[in-house]
Amino acid sequence: MTARLRATGTTAKEQETVRAPGAVPLAGHTLRLLRDPLGFLLAQHGGAESVELRLGPRPVYLLTRTETVRRVLVTDQRHYDKGGPIIEGARPLFGDGLGTCPRSEHRRQRSLLQPAFHSARIACYSPVMQACAEEVAGSWQDGQTLDMGREMHRIAARVIGRTLASDPGASRLVRDLEESLPTLMSHGFLRVVVPWSLPHELPLPANRRYRRARSTVRASIHDAIAAYRRSDAPRTDLLGHLVTVRDEHGAGLDDREIHDQIMVMLIAGIETTATALGWTFHLLGQSPDVERQVTTELDTELCGRSPTVEDLPRLPYLTRVFTEALRLYPTVPMLSRVATTEVALGGRTLPAGTEFFFSPYCLHRDPDVFPEPERFDPDRWLPERAGPEQRRGFIPWGAGARKCIGDTFSLIEASLALATILRDWRLRPAGTGRVTPTVRFSLHPSGLRMMAERRATRPVRGAGNCATGHNGPAVAHAAQDAPQ
Ligand code: HEM
Repeated sequence: MTARLRATGTTAKEQETVRAPGAVPLAGHTLRLLRDPLGFLLAQHGGAESVELRLGPRPVYLLTRTETVRRVLVTDQRHYDKGGPIIEGARPLFGDGLGTCPRSEHRRQRSLLQPAFHSARIACYSPVMQACAEEVAGSWQDGQTLDMGREMHRIAARVIGRTLASDPGASRLVRDLEESLPTLMSHGFLRVVVPWSLPHELPLPANRRYRRARSTVRASIHDAIAAYRRSDAPRTDLLGHLVTVRDEHGAGLDDREIHDQIMVMLIAGIETTATALGWTFHLLGQSPDVERQVTTELDTELCGRSPTVEDLPRLPYLTRVFTEALRLYPTVPMLSRVATTEVALGGRTLPAGTEFFFSPYCLHRDPDVFPEPERFDPDRWLPERAGPEQRRGFIPWGAGARKCIGDTFSLIEASLALATILRDWRLRPAGTGRVTPTVRFSLHPSGLRMMAERRATRPVRGAGNCATGHNGPAVAHAAQDAPQ
């Protein structure tokens, strides 16, 4: 039973904070969060507005309603800062870059980085994004069983690697990243939910692997920065931008600041998009009708050629599929904040320093906002069905001033990857077919194995835009889904 925290003199409506059941002495809810984080968090939703949990002896408040979370992120954001268990766990890895820096530094950092994420700049990156998907998918064999997590990670790591540091001298960075990132991500989550430092310092193999991976990536970033500083060749990539950018006083970023920004881009930009793609393929593999509709749209609009960023507005169904995948499996499943002043939330007044967290994974399953929340239904995002409540309730990229700077980047990258792969391949569930959402910093689809079947194509006259020459060659190619 959930114990209500009743403050004398409060009305029933104000008693909106409860204590989660099952805390044990010293560990609090830590073990339950480690064992089944999503199940445990989901079980706390649907009742009180705020639920008190214990990470070890330390209280943290889980916010369970979209409107409360929007107050924290948007309306009252000046009373909250980055902080709490997730940010503290991430800081040793991320440093003080854009994702983890305090409010006092955020405006400066964001304005320095924002130009690199301008839509015109992203459009310039888009051929690279498409080429990375084409390369990775081009290495698959017909009938091959793929570890989809790994394949999507290969695409996303290449995209970030090449848009971040296109100089051949920085290629080691991309390689080291592909190898070290999974270790950093899985160990990083342990540091969030295990609040004591001692277990992380012990000479255990897992701790040694984590430290080794961290040093490898740090050294590699350091070398890439040095190489960029040595040469004054004009560059349009992210690292080139970071090395040359100046604030309004003419001050640039020092090496440590650049290191921290790169670390954020690597960690925030690779795993997130890779896992979002993995989940999308998983859902399509479970829903042949949806998959058929996507491929019909692609065949009609692309006529067999490679997708470009200009094609994306003509692929609305593909966008709805990706949006719905992000609703069901938002790749950042938990976020946290700390109050910087006394705040009133969940019917209680809480002091500055109180830590809050909330879960897009759980909020996206609120049946009042998303009826039949477990159903994969891309058409719930049709303009006539998705109203303001659904749009406000959809927060895979967060909201407010700290909303993901890479939202458009990742949407374009993922759409191009999906269009490129689905044009040529059908991916069917393989292996045990059992896919488990595993919480690292991102929500990883563990066990996702799929068999790649090459789609056959044949020329067709008069199919959609292919006939008009509006969008491709006069002779169209429509895909036939039967294996060759
Ligand atoms: C599907 C892909 C992605 C998802 C779901 C995602 C999700 C998020 C979320 C939820 C936040 C907000 C965290 C908070 O409020 O505490 C965030 C912030 C951030 N993301 Fe992403 N992200 C994605 C892709 C990317 C990419 C591709 C990049 C970079 C290339 C990136 C860079 C960042 C950065 C730098 C921040 C910090 C922004 C700030 O504090 O101003 N993300 N992301």
